[in-house]
Order: sequence, then C-alpha cells, then structure tokens
Amino acid sequence: NKTHNYRIASIPADGIGPEVVSAAIEVVEKLAQTMKTFKIEFTHIPWGTDYYKKHGRYVDENVLDVLRGYDASLFGSVGAPDVPDHVSLWGLLLAIRGPLQLYANVRPVRTFPGTQSPLRSAKASDIDWLLYAGHGGRSHVGQPWETATEVAIFTRIGIERIMRFAFTAAAARPRKLLTVVTKSNSLRHGLVLWDEIAVEVSKDFPTVKWDKMLVDAMTIRMVQNPSSLDVIVGTNLHMDILSDLAAALAGSIGVAPSSNLDPTRRNPSLFEPVHGSAFDITGKGVANPVATFWSAAEMLGWLGEEDAKELLMKAVEGVCEAGILTKDLGGAAMTKDVTKAVCEEIERLH
Ligand code: NAI
Ligand code: MG
Repeated sequence: NKTHNYRIASIPADGIGPEVVSAAIEVVEKLAQTMKTFKIEFTHIPWGTDYYKKHGRYVDENVLDVLRGYDASLFGSVGAPDVPDHVSLWGLLLAIRGPLQLYANVRPVRTFPGTQSPLRSAKASDIDWLLYAGHGGRSHVGQPWETATEVAIFTRIGIERIMRFAFTAAAARPRKLLTVVTKSNSLRHGLVLWDEIAVEVSKDFPTVKWDKMLVDAMTIRMVQNPSSLDVIVGTNLHMDILSDLAAALAGSIGVAPSSNLDPTRRNPSLFEPVHGSAFDITGKGVANPVATFWSAAEMLGWLGEEDAKELLMKAVEGVCEAGILTKDLGGAAMTKDVTKAVCEEIERLH
C-alpha cells in the first residue's frame, strides 16, 4: 500500500483566483499532513492576464506538454476589467480544455448545512457539455451590412461520449435519474441529433430513469420542483446558464465547484470554481473559498483519494454549520477565517 505523491499545477490567474486558490492549497496541505495517507505538491504556474500583458499570450506555447507533467490542475479564474472576456477566456481556459479533451464539465450543486437556499434544497447535480467548437466569423467590419455568424457544431462522437458519461453518472447515483436538456423544437438539426443519440445511448442503461426537457421549461422546473432533478446533461451554452441558476438556487455561486474531466484519463483533468474573477470583491479578503475547497475535494476524489475528499467535505460542512460564513452566504467571516476554521475542523474530525 504505497503512499501516492501527487504533483498539481496551480494556476490561480486573475481577480479573486489567487485568493481562493491559495486558501485551497493551505487546506489540502493540511489534509495531507493530518492524514499522512498521501503526499501532494503544488507548482505555481503564472498564466493569466499579467502574463498576457508581458508575453502577449495567456499561456506558455507548449501548454499541453507543461500540463501533462502534472496529475491535475487547480485553476482559479480568468478575466480582467481591461481585456475583452472572449480574449481572456479563449486565451487561457479554452486553450486548455479543448486540446486536453476535457470534454465533461461536471458541476455538482447542493445546499450546505447552516446556509440557505432561496428555495428548498436543490439537490441537482449537473453535467455540462463542452461545445466551444467555435465556428463562425465576421465580415464587412464597421459597415452597416457587417455580418457575424456563430455556428454550433454537433458531432455524433461528441454527443455520444457526453451522453454515455451522463448516463453512467446517473446509474451510479442512488436515485438514478437523468434529465436531458434540449431545444429541439426550434434548433431542428443539431439538437434533434442530440435527442436521437440520447435515445440510442439510453438503451444501454436500463436502470436509469430519464426524461427530456426544453431548456426554457427547465428553468421553471429548477425553481418549482428542484427535488425532481438528479443528474442533468445539456450543451455547453445551455448548461452554462442553467448551472449559474442552480448555484444561485443552492445558496451562492461562491460554493459551486466544477471538474473539467478527460474521462479516458489520457490527459490530466482541471478543477476550478464555477465563479469568475469577481472584480467587485478582489483584494478585499472576503471571497468565499468554499467553491475552490470543493473543487479541490473533487480533484482528490478523481485522483483516487476518496477518504481525503470525504474528510475535506465533512470539514467544510462543519464550518458552515457553525456559522463561519462569508458575506455572500450572509456571514461576516473573511476568506482567511473560513480557511483557518476548515483546517482546524480537519484536525478535529481526523
Ligand atoms: P463572477 O463570478 O466573477 O461574479 C459574479 C458575482 O458573484 C459578483 O458579484 C461576485 O462578487 C460574486 N462572486 C463570485 N465569486 C464569489 C466568491 N467566491 N465569493 C463571494 N462572491 C463571489 O462573474 P462576472 O462578474 O460575470 O465575471 C467577472 C469576470 O470573470 C469576467 O471577466 C468573466 O469573463 C470572468 N469569468 C471567468 C470564469 C472562469 O474563469 N471560469 C467564469 C465566469 C466569469
Ligand atoms: Mg458561467
């Protein structure tokens, strides 16, 4: 029973990213020291907007070779007030996700004890499909007849692999429910193929109870009947919107984690909070670190350290329950207070 020694690329990047990632590193190092069942080493990678301003690019030229030298990446957020969002997003996050084939973007959602949902507890766990295929262009720039196209590309292989991933995830959960989000009434090519492949794949998963929802009706169901949901799969654009709604329903975007997975495990996966750079609170020390703690817990689980994941999540629950909450959850604690409390709770629970 040998002790694993993990090497993690830490990419805090912009805004509150460095604040929440350093908090998560502190907590994970505490976990490793306390449990002594694994070792973990974080290497700081300085990609982000400062790097872009110095080097003219968001990431190193051999980004893939660099990341393949690690077991996983822990990412903060990218985006700065003085750089257009499509430049920063494509420059960093999408420069990693696409080439590394991190096609499954998993975003679990829950309401923590001691925190409040604007509704009842929304236990939806959703899965998001990476579809930034990015076909399109602009012509006649500046003319009255300027034209732009944004074409979504749907491939059988792309749809089938995310459907299989979603059905597999649903089959592994106690309730075994899956909702396939679509818009095939108005988008009658790509999303009709999407629906057809859902039916095909479902035949291999007889234990999963699944249904299909139009994305607009899905917003109503998430608000009015969240307990009818378990696993949700949809296209990237739809799930980008629905997962923010789910996070808000669960209490705050400040607790929502995400995993960008290569389910084949050929490439290292990337873990990050759902939220962005949060310019309005950057540098104030009030960012909620829980989304990044939970992302780090998902990372540990993906690496095979299930016990570490469980202990970290128990510690976060305990701290929430004790009312040590940041402002977004109605509390007055600072990032460092929550971090310290989670470290102490890890020690206490161990
Ligand atoms: P945002 O998630 O940064 O902020 C939305 C609201 O939620 C703000 O009021 C913010 O203060 C609050 N918030 C976010 N995280 C929080 C936390 N941990 N604790 C407490 N409050 C928190 O989204 P916004 O304002 O749309 O985007 C800001 C920048 O971030 C943009 O440049 C955008 O492109 C980028 N972004 C990057 C993402 C990524 O790196 N994956 C994801 C979303 C946005
Ligand atoms: Mg988003």
